[in-house]
This record gives sequence, structure tokens and C-alpha cells, in this order.
Amino acid sequence: MEDGSYTIGMARTMVITSGKGGVGKTTCCAGIGTALAARGKKTLLMEGDVGLNNLDAVLAVEDKILYEMSEVACGKISLFECIMPIRDNLFLLPSIGTSVALLTAEFFMETIEKLRTEFDYILIDSPAGLEEGFHRSVVGAQEAIIVTTPHVTSIRDGYKTSRVIAQYDMKRIELIVNRVRGEYVYKKESLSPEEIADMMQLPLCGVIPEENVINLGYAMERTVAAMSFSLIAAHIDGGERKIFDCTSSYKGWKNRLKRWLS
Ligand SMILES: Nc1ncnc2c1ncn2[C@@H]1O[C@H](COP(=O)(O)OP(=O)(O)OP(=O)(O)O)[C@@H](O)[C@H]1O
Ligand SMILES: [Mg+2]
Repeated sequence: MEDGSYTIGMARTMVITSGKGGVGKTTCCAGIGTALAARGKKTLLMEGDVGLNNLDAVLAVEDKILYEMSEVACGKISLFECIMPIRDNLFLLPSIGTSVALLTAEFFMETIEKLRTEFDYILIDSPAGLEEGFHRSVVGAQEAIIVTTPHVTSIRDGYKTSRVIAQYDMKRIELIVNRVRGEYVYKKESLSPEEIADMMQLPLCGVIPEENVINLGYAMERTVAAMSFSLIAAHIDGGERKIFDCTSSYKGWKNRLKRWLS
């Protein structure tokens, strides 16, 4: 890696977390993973929300799961049998919520260590909250992405989460502001992502706009969210810091006229 702080041939391990529920952790995990895979990086998505798994649903593979992590934990199948190919360079280590007691923090740490030489990136989708499931998801990661929406409760919970995560000796902790409504930011009716990042004292990794439909399928590249996930992947993987400007379509007289006419 370009700044020398990552070991070549070893996966970068990142947890996607938030504190608050429903802010877009799973969407971001799948979106960033898809964008990293599109850059040619072998990426594994690991289900950290083992009881209320949703990564499989967001990736639209919930009907295709053959094995799950608890079967690895009890020795029924091998770890490699459990890894599910999703598309080029993208893989899922699923859980479907059975025998979750077997999926301990130690199991996660050991699993990540075994897979670190097999992938470029391992992204762990954390559950909401700061309890056992959070610890399990964070403990094997060396980097963290906190997801928040522009809402005050989400910002507060994200901030508290970032303080807790800092105790885990992370190499880097960054922020994604999700569900941003460009129009409100433009009219100054909502905090801007930069203001939120300042309040939370975290560097901004990316911004995802509010979308009607988040499509991570093959049509993904045509959506605005996909464009923002690509920018995030470029930042993570290539170090280019280019933040998606959710207010761009509200700026300038031509855009204002277009919107007024429509
Ligand atoms: N940018 C966005 N625009 C519109 N809808 C979004 C956006 N991001 C996420 N959503 C929607 O919000 C809902 C919650 O998203 P998601 O499941 O990713 O959140 P989560 O933080 O993983 O939730 P949980 O805490 O329950 O695991 C989903 O219906 C998802 O499609
Ligand atoms: Mg989730």
C-alpha cells in the first residue's frame, strides 16, 4: 500500500459500524465491497450481524446460501466451503442466524487471521449497538468506517461508537454520511457532511445521497449511489480523496431552471 502502513499480501480488514440501527451499515458494506471488487480487489464481506443477517438480502443471494459460518464453527464444513462467490472478486461469508452462540469474537478473529492472505479486503458488517455483536465485529478489524445519517440521534450514536472503537487500536477510523439530501444541504436546512465530520472529529471517507432505490445488482453502475461508492472505494484503495457533492445538481441557474420546470 502507498503509505507503507499496510502489509502487502495481507487483507485490509475493515468493520462498518454505526451505533444506531438502520442507518445504512449493510448497504455501505455491500456497496463498498462491490466497488472494491469492480476495481479488481478480491473482497470478502463477512456477516457480523449473525442473528439478523441482511448482507445476503442486500446482495440478493439469500436463496442461494448453501452453508453458513456456524457450520464452520462446529466443524461440519471447512471455512473455504462456506465462502460464497457473489460475482467477480466479491465473496460472502454468510450467517443465517442459527447456532449463533458458536460465532464468538474468538471465532471471528481466528477466521479473519486464516483468510488474511486470501483476500485484498475483508469487510465486516457490524450489528447496531455496542454490545457483544459489536465487539465480535470489531475485534478482528484494523480499520473502521462509522456510518451516520444527518440526523442528530445517529450523529450522537456514531460519535459515541467512534470513541469506543478508538480503544481497539485501529489504524484508521473514518466517516460515511449516508442518506444525504442535497437539496436540504444546499438550502442550509440540513448539516453538510463536512459539518457532521467536524462535529464527530472524524475524517470524511464519503457521502451517499438519499436514493429512491439502492440497486447493487448489475445495473448498479448507473445509479448515483454507485458513483459515490466508487469514489469511496477509490479513496480507500487508491488514496484519492474525492467526496461526492450531493448539492451539485442544485447549484447554478441552469440546474435551478431545470428543477423549476420539472
Ligand atoms: N442512501 C440511501 N438512500 C435510501 N435508502 C437507503 C440508503 N441507505 C440505506 N437505505 C435503506 O435504509 C434501510 C436500512 O439500511 P441498512 O439495512 O443498510 O441499515 P443498517 O444500518 O445495516 O441496519 P441494521 O442496524 O438493522 O443492521 C434499508 O431499507 C436501505 O435500503
Ligand atoms: Mg445491517
